[in-house]
Amino acid sequence: MVAISDHSYQQLLFETEALGQPVARLKLGRGASASTHGAIIGDLVQDWRSQHLWLVSCRVDDHDAAAKAALSANDFRCIETLVTLERTIDGNQAMPDGISQATDDDCDACIQIGRRAFGHDRFHMDDRIDNDLADRVKANWVRNSLQGRADAALVSHEAGQTRGFVLCLHNGDNAIIDLIAVANDGQGRGIGGKLVAGALSHYRGRAKRMLVGTQHDNLASRALYERMGFVRVKTEVTYHWVNPEILS
Ligand SMILES: CC(C)(COP(=O)(O)OP(=O)(O)OC[C@H]1O[C@@H](n2cnc3c(N)ncnc32)[C@H](O)[C@@H]1OP(=O)(O)O)[C@@H](O)C(=O)NCCC(=O)NCCS
Repeated sequence: MVAISDHSYQQLLFETEALGQPVARLKLGRGASASTHGAIIGDLVQDWRSQHLWLVSCRVDDHDAAAKAALSANDFRCIETLVTLERTIDGNQAMPDGISQATDDDCDACIQIGRRAFGHDRFHMDDRIDNDLADRVKANWVRNSLQGRADAALVSHEAGQTRGFVLCLHNGDNAIIDLIAVANDGQGRGIGGKLVAGALSHYRGRAKRMLVGTQHDNLASRALYERMGFVRVKTEVTYHWVNPEILS
């Protein structure tokens, strides 16, 4: 990690491997003015050019006008609005029929679903990133999760086929839906709802609340979480800087 003042950036190894070019994340210090942010980001951009970094992301609170102005002034492009939703995990959620813990037999199908289902995430939404690379990020994410990153991995089966998955992380009182997807030809028929209900059932007695992040523009996902009793607790925006001297 490189820190300048209270701003810092860090290369992201998983994204770098999946995208095949050096990728990093910038964290801005709190409470600075647009001009202070701007001066520091301007110096960092020079570093990134000389280090041949390809893509740098930065996520800031939607209300942080100073940070947003400084990023825009330094050729960062606003890519997505990310909402965090939350609900308590109460005592009476049963495991729905057709939802079970993932086994090795589900792995290939989940990777294929993950490769094809996503379209609203920051990699797919940035038109400077090839869609095949964005698909690969999601496929690798599913593979890593099933190989141990996820605290819980639940799948939905229909007629013996894997039709969707939910991958969760666990941090103290918080269970986090890290990734959820249903096969493209199975969406809109309640499978996503069963997967979320399954995750709530799994964490009953293990965590107090469940959190999930999704894009504001992902209407199906927002509809699903709102139907399941989640409420919005945070809104952030994600920016990307792409090195103009490097092609994807
Ligand atoms: C989000 C996702 C998991 C939901 O799974 P699903 O099986 O389709 O979910 P359900 O059928 O239980 O519910 C979907 C809800 O979205 C609504 N919906 C579906 N498509 C929609 C659209 N284009 N616009 C608005 N609402 C939509 C449905 O009507 C339903 O809402 P309702 O119960 O209020 O009618 C699925 O759409 C998916 O895999 N999307 C691609 C991956 C993704 O974006 N994952 C979320 C990332 S955080």
